[in-house]
Amino acid sequence: MPFSPKASTICALGFVGFMSSLTAAAAPAAESADSDLSAWLDSEQAIAAAKISSNLLPNGALLASPSRSAPNYYFHWTRDAALTMNVVLDLYSASTTPEERSAYLRQAHSYVDFTIQLQAEPTLSGSLDAHYANLGEPKFEVSGRGFNEPWGRPQTDGPALRASSLIRIYTLSLQRPDALLQFKSSLGSLKSAILKDLEYTAYHWRDQGFDLWEEVRGQHFYNALAQRRALLDGAAFVKAHPGGGDAARYLAEARAIEVHLARFWDGQRGHLMPTINRDGGLDYKNSNLDSSIILAALHAQGEPGYFSAADDRVLATAHFIRSTFASLYPINKVSRDPKQRRLAPAIGRYPEDRYDGNGTSQGHPWFLTTAALAELMYSAAISYDAANQILITAHNEAFFADLALANVTLRRGDSIKRGDTRFLGILLALLQGGDEYLARIHLHAANSGDLTEQFDRYTGFERGARDLSWSYASVLSAAKARARLIAALRL
Ligand code: NOJ
Ligand code: NOJ
Repeated sequence: MPFSPKASTICALGFVGFMSSLTAAAAPAAESADSDLSAWLDSEQAIAAAKISSNLLPNGALLASPSRSAPNYYFHWTRDAALTMNVVLDLYSASTTPEERSAYLRQAHSYVDFTIQLQAEPTLSGSLDAHYANLGEPKFEVSGRGFNEPWGRPQTDGPALRASSLIRIYTLSLQRPDALLQFKSSLGSLKSAILKDLEYTAYHWRDQGFDLWEEVRGQHFYNALAQRRALLDGAAFVKAHPGGGDAARYLAEARAIEVHLARFWDGQRGHLMPTINRDGGLDYKNSNLDSSIILAALHAQGEPGYFSAADDRVLATAHFIRSTFASLYPINKVSRDPKQRRLAPAIGRYPEDRYDGNGTSQGHPWFLTTAALAELMYSAAISYDAANQILITAHNEAFFADLALANVTLRRGDSIKRGDTRFLGILLALLQGGDEYLARIHLHAANSGDLTEQFDRYTGFERGARDLSWSYASVLSAAKARARLIAALRL
């Protein structure tokens, strides 16, 4: 059987099968959240946090992976580092001891130091005086020098993601007197680092560039949504901390990005497109289905509604992604573990992917995209819970049909309010749905808890770069959303 490297492990898990009691009238029982998945997640989160710490070098460079060959990921990627440090800030906020808190804050500030250093480097993406075109460089040597070899550049998402993370570091540091004492002198330089990333984003967001997978040149939904988020964060930041920056300009550019973003919805296909105006790079992504849409919705969160997790256009796209990968990867033929518990399909970057983790042959599922689908389900449920209603639309009805919704009938046009017995049924099904993606990750993760970039589409075994920072960050992020949902549901 080509799928189950850890069948015996998953056998011993014992999911609590609350789906059987998930009827229209079901009240959430205390046991409803899958406690065995919770136990695995607890240990996996501790491993993930430790692995991220060890990928952070003393000078603040964050390794995408410690792997130096086949593949060589021994670099600091702007995108990976910004996303991972954002999760480190979650760990900081959740820490329970002063020691832990200062350790995470020190990590954040060493990342700031490294960022300040690399922002001063001219790169093959451009020079500093071209509105910081140098910042479009996707990856840096751990010394802080740009990677001066051929690569898919520029990548315009990096400075935007980093601006949002740096703003969070600034705000969190200001809130803590202990941090202020330690890092006060560097807050001024942190602010100018933020303003550089905002300037880059405000000026360069229209530029053609390579996508987050570093393969296609054009204009990308992922980049635009991250850029809009950065400019909105930036406008609020410079209003709160006057002196430098231009809030009105950031807001105007963010509104212009919204006009641009509307072009990515393809009403004929019924899903969001990852790229428009392609003018280079790979040309065989014919399905135009891409997990980057889901990542965009998660990474640019901040307000409900706008291309967020519960946006029906995002959920429409999630449905297509799920069903496409479900039939593409042989391991997905197995949709139940040996105890008959449900597993969601393993998810890759996009169906035509040929990157095998080192070279080019055939693509495989990735941990970070599979975790993203889990996080999407939890985050959508959190939004519905906060909004007290769920609208069933032409766009999201297929997504809901993928859920295990026993005895719940949904019709297009339904507005399901809290109090309607179906409301809770849907939220519980989203929790279960997310858990099925994490159970998929659990099945294919190494017993040690180590996570690579990919897992094999035939055997399910880990492959590609080892100890990928972003894989760990993605599981931590999904686990955080799951915990929030469980708390909101009072399970
Ligand atoms: C390395 C890139 O990071 C990856 O995304 C890409 O698929 C491969 N090169 C193959 O081009
Ligand atoms: C390849 C991925 O496609 C890209 O998104 C990532 O930045 C690099 N690997 C480094 O992890």
